[in-house]
Amino acid sequence: MPRAKIAGVGHYVPERVVTNFDLEKMMDTSDEWIRERTGIQERRWVEEGETVSGLGLKASEVALERAGVNKEDIDFIIFASMESDYEFPGGGCFLQEKLGLPGIPALDIRNQCSGFVYGLSVADQFIRTGMYKTILLVGAEIQSTSLDLTTRGRDMAVLFGDGAGAAVITATEEEDKGILTTHLHADGRYAKKLWAELPSVIFHPRLEPWMLETDRIYPKMEGRFVFKHAVTRFPEVIREALEATGYTIEDVDLIVPHQANQRITEAVAQRLGVSMEKVYSNIHKYGNTTAATIPICLSEAWAEGRIKDGDLVAIAAFGSGFTWASALVRW
Ligand code: COA
Repeated sequence: MPRAKIAGVGHYVPERVVTNFDLEKMMDTSDEWIRERTGIQERRWVEEGETVSGLGLKASEVALERAGVNKEDIDFIIFASMESDYEFPGGGCFLQEKLGLPGIPALDIRNQCSGFVYGLSVADQFIRTGMYKTILLVGAEIQSTSLDLTTRGRDMAVLFGDGAGAAVITATEEEDKGILTTHLHADGRYAKKLWAELPSVIFHPRLEPWMLETDRIYPKMEGRFVFKHAVTRFPEVIREALEATGYTIEDVDLIVPHQANQRITEAVAQRLGVSMEKVYSNIHKYGNTTAATIPICLSEAWAEGRIKDGDLVAIAAFGSGFTWASALVRW
């Protein structure tokens, strides 16, 4: 049975840098509060006119080049994002059009911060069954335009950024190589602990002028509740992947967690009993880019030489849904 290996990773972030000091001018917050509570110093936000598929395309071009794969070899596109360029269809089709690959299937995954790891699992299954040989998996996100950029929305507004990451996943016959295992979970009981309520199909029509006058159109979160679940689920799902493969945490060369909050990442490292040197973090530069954090991390870690051929990489995500997931990858 073929295995799926990550042949190349790439990323792209918008050029516009928004620092904590820039946010101080928009709302009652401070660089000190944001750094202390989250570890974030700056994030990238798009300019008007940029699209999630456009960010995804730029990340994909880098991943394809690094993988040494021609775009014509792609036989399946998986696009993980909370949003699309327009209300519908999903961003996968817009990316496919930009790549110039008519007829190639495009699957949209909407699993928020866990979207990329869910996508990794889907790609793995399609390659193992022999259905596809070369899959482009993209995590792309534009969060900035959904945020309440006033003091009312400051708890969420300071956390999120825009960006995209991509992985080219190919079939391999090599032993103990590639995606070794993936584990997916969800618990919809907590869907409203981190969500955006409006517009909603429960209203007829689903979008009405009065909605724009409320704060219910903005993402909302019970921060402490989310924090508590995240610090439990991350180590749990990483251990699940280790148990499934017989590896221990000592065997892992690098842990790449979804970048939600530096305090969450540090708590996860502590609970797993590993030093922060073994855990990749770039949240200080980009904030939380939802489905894009993990492929952006993989791309930077690879470029910096922190992921080398043969390394064992543990990937884990947690986010809205709640959803959480892990993958163990032999690079
Ligand atoms: N700037 C300044 N003050 C802020 C603020 C901001 N951006 N956001 C919130 N505050 C204030 C609150 O209003 C509150 O004030 P009060 O005590 O007068 O009511 C105070 O800071 C503490 O708020 P609290 O929400 O209890 O802070 P916290 O220590 O829980 O930190 C988070 C908030 C959001 C950083 C933290 O809960 C968190 O990281 N949660 C998980 C987030 C996450 O990862 N989400 C995505 C998962 S994928």
